[in-house]
Amino acid sequence: MNKCKKLAEYLIAWYPDHARELPWRRDRDPYHVWLSEIMLQQTRVEAVKEYYKRFLQALPTIADLANVEEDRLLKLWEGLGYYNRARNLKKAAQTIVNEREGRFPKTYEEILSLSGIGEYTAGAIGSICFDLPTPAVDGNVLRVYTRVMADASNIDKQSTKKMIREQLAAVYPKGKCGMFTQSLMELGATVCLPNGMPKCGECPLQSICLAGQHDTWQQYPVRDEKKSRRLEDKTVFVLRCGNRVAVRKRDSKGLLSGMWEFPNVEGILIEQQAADVAAQWKTAPEHMKMSYHYTHVFSHVEWRMTAYYLACQQMCREFQWVTMEELEHKVAMPSAFRPFLDMLKEEK
Ligand code: ADE
Ligand code: SF4
Repeated sequence: MNKCKKLAEYLIAWYPDHARELPWRRDRDPYHVWLSEIMLQQTRVEAVKEYYKRFLQALPTIADLANVEEDRLLKLWEGLGYYNRARNLKKAAQTIVNEREGRFPKTYEEILSLSGIGEYTAGAIGSICFDLPTPAVDGNVLRVYTRVMADASNIDKQSTKKMIREQLAAVYPKGKCGMFTQSLMELGATVCLPNGMPKCGECPLQSICLAGQHDTWQQYPVRDEKKSRRLEDKTVFVLRCGNRVAVRKRDSKGLLSGMWEFPNVEGILIEQQAADVAAQWKTAPEHMKMSYHYTHVFSHVEWRMTAYYLACQQMCREFQWVTMEELEHKVAMPSAFRPFLDMLKEEK
């Protein structure tokens, strides 16, 4: 029997007793599967669980998502990062409501045509919700496949993904397409681990896995060399006036576009320089209360931030001045600024 066929057969036999119980595995509603797959891109399962539940409580249907205000949407996504994922969800929901009478499409091509849905997500939704033989090739699947086959193709190449997608598509078991997709992901997430030792001893693919048998799993998958992150220094101002704090909205383009932030400038300023900058904002700062350092790591950049806390006597026009209550419940602020907010809460 061809090796891919065996891989499918072994994984399908293994999956029912080894699958984790996850909130998005309780049904096959395409809205639920779609939302979970988008959240799970770039984000760990444990972190996603609570976001997923809260999101569906707030927006239980695709129509609710289509109509949600952007600020509320971003607040629901706050801390997950890659905020365009949320905007694209809403855009796709609007397409479904306006052009498809609210019905989620059922073919791979139509699913793929929705905003924010690429080949991976379309494959996942197609197989899990509609039993289509459409593989969802993510990092987990690439790792499992290249190890089993001892395939040294570079997984950052589109041609490699395409080849693997085609190999897997050919062995998708009708009636169990969703199970096969999830079993591949599950093995990658819980057995054939990305960092550290894979658990070959408990792996259902042991008898066919070349990298496992030859103990060469460390060589797979082959990837492009990682580019190092760009470093950026920033000085952040936490300006407080009475019970309000200054925030501003980021530009509509680029990193963290449209999210809220504490005012900040490029470079690391010493206290006197920071005081001079703050003076230009006409907030009549009384005193500099303290400073605090924090480094936030994004995928391609690293922000090294120094924050100054200033008690101000007046609010200026450059910023929105919001209460702590609003900051908690309304204003969507990315994780990069969260530690400064936490400091502010402690200070109270
Ligand atoms: N990672 C990506 N998709 C997943 C899913 N459906 N279940 C668990 N982990 C995942
Ligand atoms: Fe991964 Fe080991 Fe299983 Fe091969 S035998 S798929 S390397 S866990």
